[in-house]
Amino acid sequence: MAMRNKNIPNHIGIIMDGNGRWATRQSLPRNVGHKEGINAVDRTIKAALKLNIKILTFFAFSTENWKRSSEEINGIFKLVREFIKGKKDEYKSLGVKFISIGDITKFPEDLQHELDRIKFETKGNNSLIVNLALNYGGRADIVYAVNKLIDSGIKKVSEEDILNNLYTSGLPDPDFIIRTSGEMRISNFMLYQMAYSELAFPKVLWPDFNERHLKKAIKVFSKRNRRFGGIT
Ligand code: IPE
Ligand code: IPE
Ligand code: MG
Repeated sequence: MAMRNKNIPNHIGIIMDGNGRWATRQSLPRNVGHKEGINAVDRTIKAALKLNIKILTFFAFSTENWKRSSEEINGIFKLVREFIKGKKDEYKSLGVKFISIGDITKFPEDLQHELDRIKFETKGNNSLIVNLALNYGGRADIVYAVNKLIDSGIKKVSEEDILNNLYTSGLPDPDFIIRTSGEMRISNFMLYQMAYSELAFPKVLWPDFNERHLKKAIKVFSKRNRRFGGIT
């Protein structure tokens, strides 16, 4: 296996924030912001392929986002459905593998089917893993893991047991988490997995995010001194 450049993150988690503000600033409905947000996802996937990033996790819908209006929620579902259907063949040929984390059984059935289909059709790909966090929460993830462990009859758990039973089981922890829109909080994203993630909070609103912003963020990452509690 080729040596990986340590200065380039292997797994980037993206908290895509600012769609609503992007739309409101132009007196447009919030869902127009989500639509533009989907275009930013497409740009980011293509940029990541070029930059040799191996895993991208997109925080697309949180366990708390059910608090929004049903109009907005259904609009988001519709956009995710169209995105998956419309881009499937292109991503397939680009070698992208789709997976998801979170409880998608709470989503409309046709959307679940589209998700199952793209996962199945891209499962042999290995250029880039695109992991969609859907109805995902970091706390729900830990509860999910603990319940799986209880069901297995285990009496005592290790850190590794928990890691191996999270939705992200088998994936390396994110090296780098980017949250757009300038908000400096995690909002229940990958709580267990981000123990040693580097963080960046660029001001750009998610619908405006492009390859330049990704490159800039990676440059910032590459200058960080990751010590993991040790001394360098
Ligand atoms: C992020 O943009 C997208 C989702 C949470 C689905 P927001 O919709 O949170 O945009 P703001 O924060 O209201 O600007
Ligand atoms: C975080 O953004 C969730 C996603 C990006 C899916 P939110 O906009 O929901 O977070 P808060 O409410 O500002 O913390
Ligand atoms: Mg937001």
